[in-house]
Amino acid sequence: TEQGLRELLLGHIRDVPDYPKPGVVFKDIAPLLADAPAFAALTDAFAELCEHYAVDKVMGLEARGFILGAPVAVRAGRGFVPVRKAGKLPGETLSQAYDLEYGSAEIEIQADALAAGDRVLVIDDVLATGGTAEASLELIRRAGAEVAGVAVLMELGFLAGRQRLERSLAGAPLHALITV
Ligand code: PRP
Repeated sequence: TEQGLRELLLGHIRDVPDYPKPGVVFKDIAPLLADAPAFAALTDAFAELCEHYAVDKVMGLEARGFILGAPVAVRAGRGFVPVRKAGKLPGETLSQAYDLEYGSAEIEIQADALAAGDRVLVIDDVLATGGTAEASLELIRRAGAEVAGVAVLMELGFLAGRQRLERSLAGAPLHALITV
C-alpha cells in the first residue's frame, strides 16, 4: 500500500541536525540506499510513473537524483539524462541559472540529450525551494521536449517548492512519496 511504502521509506531516512549549517535538519538517504528492499521499493514506485505518464526519458538531478534516477531508467526501460551543475559536461550544452537563498546556481544538459517531443520525468531526492526542479523544467522546454512530471522522494512542504513549480509544471504532476 501507499501508506506501507511511506513508512518503509521514512524508516530509512535519517535526520541529521545542524547540517550543512546550524538550524538545518538534513534528510540523509544513505540508510535507504543501503537497504536493498527499501531501495527496490522506491525504484519500483518511480518506475511505475514511467508507465503511467508515458515517459520517454528519465532525468536525474545532480547528485542524489543520479543515484535514484538511474535505476528507475533501467527498471522502466527508458534512457537516462543527467542534469549537471554547470561546467561538467562536454560539447554543446543548454544552461539554466536559478536563484538560491543567497546568490545563484546554474545547471546544464547536453544540447542533444533530449529529442523534440520527448516526454521527460524529472527525478530527485528532495524538493526544497523548488529552484533546481524549476530550472530543470525550463531546460526540458528549451530543448523542445515535454514535461511528463516531477517525482521526488521527499517534499519539504514548508518551503513551498510545489507553489514555485506550479507555473512551469503547466498541469504536469508533481509526485512526492513523502511530504514533511
Ligand atoms: C539538493 C537536493 C535537490 C536540491 C533541492 O541538492 O538534492 O537537488 O538541493 O533544493 P531546491 O528545491 O531548493 O532547489 P544539492 O544542491 O545539495 O546538490 P547535491 O545533491 O549535488 O549535493
